[in-house]
Amino acid sequence: MSSIFSPSLFSSIQFSRELLSDDAQIEALHADVFGPGRFVRAASAIREQGPHDRDLSFTARLDEQLIGSVRLSSIAVGEMRGHLLGPLAVLSDKRKAGIGKHLVNLGVEAARKAESKFVLLVGDAPYYWPMGFRPISVEAVRMPLPVTPGRLLVCELETRVMERLAGNVRHAHCIGRY
Ligand SMILES: CC(C)(COP(=O)(O)OP(=O)(O)OC[C@H]1O[C@@H](n2cnc3c(N)ncnc32)[C@H](O)[C@@H]1OP(=O)(O)O)[C@@H](O)C(=O)NCCC(=O)NCCS
Repeated sequence: MSSIFSPSLFSSIQFSRELLSDDAQIEALHADVFGPGRFVRAASAIREQGPHDRDLSFTARLDEQLIGSVRLSSIAVGEMRGHLLGPLAVLSDKRKAGIGKHLVNLGVEAARKAESKFVLLVGDAPYYWPMGFRPISVEAVRMPLPVTPGRLLVCELETRVMERLAGNVRHAHCIGRY
């Protein structure tokens, strides 16, 4: 669907940390944007292992309507602790106004403040590249379901983390230190 949203309205959007009371609207947004296929993705398999981190997750609202959301979950790759970003979703008629990128940047900065070492996601490199994400080997960083090479992306929050990042990706809940 083409956008009917003016980028100049970006300043009217309220970005907030996610609240428990946002859950139903976020679920409705995910159902609308991703459809039933959302539960069979590699990143979903990680998210099913434990809760997302609400303190590092953000919403976008326009006139009280929830129009965008990003969630981060605490994970480990091997022994290194970081965060998984996603789902990221913006309502189809509110796109191309910078909401998605702003939500990603809010999540990454919150992860940095939480002393996370990296943010990992599965997504399109051309979209995430300007926000500091780079492809990492799907053989070195192993998701529970297959990921197309080039779609597993990392934003380093500590120097040269990518060189050291290797192992199975697990939700922090699974390693008993959540
Ligand atoms: C991806 C998404 C969150 C972007 O939201 P948004 O608010 O429109 O993003 P922004 O306004 O920050 O950026 C829009 C720009 O990114 C581009 N873009 C959007 N999705 C892209 C993609 N998958 N690959 C490359 N570029 C993309 C747009 O064409 C637009 O380019 P322009 O600025 O040159 O016009 C939104 O399109 C969405 O919800 N898509 C469906 C769900 C999804 O794919 N989520 C991401 C999973 S990895």
